[in-house]
Amino acid sequence: MRRKDQAKAYGYLPRSSNQNVIAQVTRAEERAWEHGRMSTRPRVSARISAISESATLAVDAKAKAMKAAGRPVIGFGAGEPDFPTPGYIVEAAIEAARDPRFHKYTPAGGLPELKKAIADKTARDSGYAVEPSQVLVTNGGKQAVYEAFATLLDPGDEVLVVAPYWTTYPEAIKLAGGVQVDVVTDESTGYLASVAQLEAARTGRTKALLFVSPSNPTGAVYSREQTVEIGRWAAEHGLWVVTDEIYEHLVYGDAEFTSIATAVPELGDQVVILNGVAKTYAMTGWRVGWLIGPSDVVKAATNLQSHATSNVSNVAQMAALAAVSGDLSAVAEMRAAFDRRRQTMVRMLNEIPGVFCPEPRGAFYAYPSVKELVGKELRGRRPLSSGELAELILEEAEVAVVPGEAFGTPGYFRLSYALGDNDLVEGVSRLGKLLSEAR
Ligand SMILES: Cc1ncc(COP(=O)(O)O)c(C=O)c1O
Repeated sequence: MRRKDQAKAYGYLPRSSNQNVIAQVTRAEERAWEHGRMSTRPRVSARISAISESATLAVDAKAKAMKAAGRPVIGFGAGEPDFPTPGYIVEAAIEAARDPRFHKYTPAGGLPELKKAIADKTARDSGYAVEPSQVLVTNGGKQAVYEAFATLLDPGDEVLVVAPYWTTYPEAIKLAGGVQVDVVTDESTGYLASVAQLEAARTGRTKALLFVSPSNPTGAVYSREQTVEIGRWAAEHGLWVVTDEIYEHLVYGDAEFTSIATAVPELGDQVVILNGVAKTYAMTGWRVGWLIGPSDVVKAATNLQSHATSNVSNVAQMAALAAVSGDLSAVAEMRAAFDRRRQTMVRMLNEIPGVFCPEPRGAFYAYPSVKELVGKELRGRRPLSSGELAELILEEAEVAVVPGEAFGTPGYFRLSYALGDNDLVEGVSRLGKLLSEAR
């Protein structure tokens, strides 16, 4: 069929042929037709159309836009420390920027000195011994997440994901052709999954378990015993464990970080660790993360990266080198501030009628249930989901929270406590005042 007949068959005709269908034809389509490029295929691929906007970034962007317009918005949406990057790290970057060696391409998998320092840091913090060749330096932890799933999954392979989960995982799994199987937890267990729940979700197609402790969005931290139990179960069934350790240094009270890779040697070489400098060193904007795994997986992921993005910015890599080879005093200071804010936030949230917040033990998020408030009347409206309630709160109280829909569990909010003490108190007070009006 000629292109023109093809277009006719789909009801797309140029302006002169049929005025009745002109409404369906945009100017761009007309021009494309005139140039013989008219296509009836979707403009954006099905694979990419299926990816949703990052809800956490969207809430943050809306709050920032309202702020820029002069409204006194308090944002609990951001997933980043409110501290600047420590000075010695910034100095290392400045020095690197002056060195012509770093003005050129470097190995796609990362600077050798950084890979070595990451291997040393992993031995220091997790007690896990790896060779530098088992490290791939990525453009933030996010790229490590994408590359891990792209490298491990074939179409139809299932991944067990504990919900509530961080928003990026589903998209990375989907894009790799994998199938996410949710293991849903709630506040009654402090958002911790049991082996019985994981086992109930396992099928013959399960390839991997995603293990995240401390968790974004809930702040849940698995104990050593729970970690060992889960890891042994995964090993017994030959599953891969992809473990995201990006919040390893942000644990509070008697909670302890346990690296599943070290705690469960039975997992052998079927473990992939994801990590980065963003949260520990207040370096979200520098974009340096990494993936650690068996050599074959790391080699394959490095091949992928060599075609996608090549090496991470050398200046940022040298900043990351200063970070991981320095001490942990900067994160200790941040941790003390986060701990204080965490306690204030949880106490204030639990004083609001209809809100219940288990104590988060890691990361910098609280994840209260607001299920009792959904469907109640508030300022003449009746929000029927936590998403609608979050919108109402932004408009009426000028407070931004991320609704649980973004993390696979409607009926909750995520609030980051990585913001100044005064703003935190003011924001949660506004929230409490508004929500107390719900009937
Ligand atoms: C659990 C988790 N993993 C990974 C990342 C990725 O961080 P980045 O890409 O900024 O290094 C984040 C960031 O929010 C996170 O919360």
